[in-house]
Amino acid sequence: ICSQTSQAQRPKPNYDESKVPEFKLPDPLVTSEGEKVDSAEEWQKVRRPEILELFESEVYGKSPAPPKDMLFEVTSQKNDALNGKAIRKEVSIYFSGKKEEPRMDLLIYLPAKATKPVPVFIGLNFYGNHTITEEKDVKLSDKWMRANKDKGIVDHHATEKSRGTSASRWPIEKIIDRGYGLVAIYCGDIDPDYDDGFKNGVHALFNSKQKPAPDEWGTISAWAWGLSRAMDYLETDKQIDANKVAVMGHSRLGKTSLWAGAQDPRFALVISNDSGCGGAALSRRRFGETLNVINNAFPHWFCDNFNKYIDKEEELPVDQHMLISLIAPRPVYVASAEDDRWADPNGEFLSVKYAEPVYKLLGTSGFGAKEMPKVNQPIQQQMGYHIRTGKHNVTDFDWQQYLDFADQHFKGS
Ligand code: GCU
Repeated sequence: ICSQTSQAQRPKPNYDESKVPEFKLPDPLVTSEGEKVDSAEEWQKVRRPEILELFESEVYGKSPAPPKDMLFEVTSQKNDALNGKAIRKEVSIYFSGKKEEPRMDLLIYLPAKATKPVPVFIGLNFYGNHTITEEKDVKLSDKWMRANKDKGIVDHHATEKSRGTSASRWPIEKIIDRGYGLVAIYCGDIDPDYDDGFKNGVHALFNSKQKPAPDEWGTISAWAWGLSRAMDYLETDKQIDANKVAVMGHSRLGKTSLWAGAQDPRFALVISNDSGCGGAALSRRRFGETLNVINNAFPHWFCDNFNKYIDKEEELPVDQHMLISLIAPRPVYVASAEDDRWADPNGEFLSVKYAEPVYKLLGTSGFGAKEMPKVNQPIQQQMGYHIRTGKHNVTDFDWQQYLDFADQHFKGS
């Protein structure tokens, strides 16, 4: 692709607000024909499908329809996990309907004392379901992983040392104590996070011989598609309230939670934690990570058409505020971290702000904030946002807000 640049030529990231280029954002409420959208009906019938189609063909790539015969298998169940607090299940989803790869494993924790189906958070993780918990009898992932010594990964595979290494990002007991369940999935079960020409993961089920076309799914689309397949299972699980499923993701997996929530309205609430470029941050700002950098470093994440806009962000027919608008009127929460300038906190805030007119048109409270709030002062209307102190990570502060936000929307408190 001609406009891609080598490592050495890559521009230095801009962290200077005064050097953000002037830009004009496409209006989510004006159709491609230039018509003003002024009713909920017109939004749903005309403009929303138009925007969705643009994100499919120009940004993440189109995904195939769900497979016809998936097989769900409960491989373990423990009714007194976490010292009696939780029911823990492991469920395998075989996409082809046969007991063969690709296979996706769900690790599910539910409050043991629940007397009715519970609302849940669902989230992809980076290094396997066994990393989110200290419990030793959770299955160790057998899949390929990115190299990471700190996470106990040896030869691209998990070892016993890797158990619990991401537990701080998933406060399971807190989630359970607040009456929610948690569904965890290793993203690499759906598509391993490297550029292999799309032969592995779920891509192999559909187009094993050829590379996807320029408007067909990259890895983020594949991950989002996998989340929807997990949702297919959740709809069959009587212990789970499938109308109250919140999808949450961090960083590349936050880009994924937004795209999953944008496409699949069964996700009743959507959370992006530090998702940055190609997630909640506006591409046109070119602050921190840019399209040039992300498409070169991770050529498999987006569809090939996205490369057309490298250093030509102003030609994009969408920007990321329109991704948020696709989630309307469902509650959406975007979180940033002060030291995570790579992800452009201001650009993440502005996406929420510029998606607000769609939320308002659909009759919700919208967002309400005009200016970036102070650190650690969350805004929680139909749209939520915070910037907390600290770095690129998922912290207890973040989860505290997500739980409060979910209470507000799922329990009316
Ligand atoms: C890199 C990448 C980001 C991504 C992050 C992550 O920093 O440049 O776009 O969000 O990895 O997923 O942790």
